[in-house]
Amino acid sequence: MSQGIFSSAATAVGRVLGALTGSSWGAGFEPVWYSLRMPEWPAALDGFLVAVVADIHIGRNHGRAWTCPALPAALRAIRAERPDLLIFAGDFAFKEWTPVDLAHIASLFEAGSRVAVLGNHDFARGDTQAAQLADALEDCGITVLRNQAHMLRFSNQPVWVAGLDDAPSGHDDVDLLLSRLPEGASPAILLSHGPDAVREAARTGRFMLAVAGHTHGGQVAIPGLRSFILRRFAHSEFDRGLYRLGGMPLVVTKGLGMVGYPVRFRARPEVVFLKLHSSQID
Ligand SMILES: [Fe+2]
Repeated sequence: MSQGIFSSAATAVGRVLGALTGSSWGAGFEPVWYSLRMPEWPAALDGFLVAVVADIHIGRNHGRAWTCPALPAALRAIRAERPDLLIFAGDFAFKEWTPVDLAHIASLFEAGSRVAVLGNHDFARGDTQAAQLADALEDCGITVLRNQAHMLRFSNQPVWVAGLDDAPSGHDDVDLLLSRLPEGASPAILLSHGPDAVREAARTGRFMLAVAGHTHGGQVAIPGLRSFILRRFAHSEFDRGLYRLGGMPLVVTKGLGMVGYPVRFRARPEVVFLKLHSSQID
């Protein structure tokens, strides 16, 4: 999402709707589960659990702390489920921030393995600070993928994660990413901050699954205006949930935090859990 996400008028409308419907303003949280059965997913990894965390958006804005009210609930949910793989789909930051502080927050999420890509807000203070954030995350044991592919191993079975560098800020390079994914690397999960950038890589047929964030599900998802808000502010044709791109599942998470105004409406903060099953097992 871009920083100027809402006009004050939209926010005012959102507040009224929230008051009428009892919707919370960013403090709510929901774990969202998907069970995906995929023909090519290895039988040895049936029941593999992936958690997706995105758009935490923590920092300072005009000298005041910019927080993520859903963070404690998200940490508890991850701790309870103990995912095999935790994916950070970018946008740790908002406005002013230090790499070490954001990496420390990310390190609080516990999982068997953790990988990340950066998002457009992580690049907003320049490439140097984004690179420092990547280094700080790596220092905390989180693998940061910038147009890179990374092989993990679970139950002696390889699982590849290919991370496209941030597309909304123009750092993505699909050809470079594909060149770094060895022929036959399978299963391969595609990770991208922006969902729209997934299309090109998806057409190659090399990925079993893709995950993305960035949209916040509109953040203030005013009925009738949601697709306009998504196109205008997130520059995205995607919203939230499960899509199919040529048969490949793409899961877009609404993420946890907020930008522009500390408000969410009809777009509750979430952590997505993906339970992956093999069609080879009934
Ligand atoms: Fe973003």
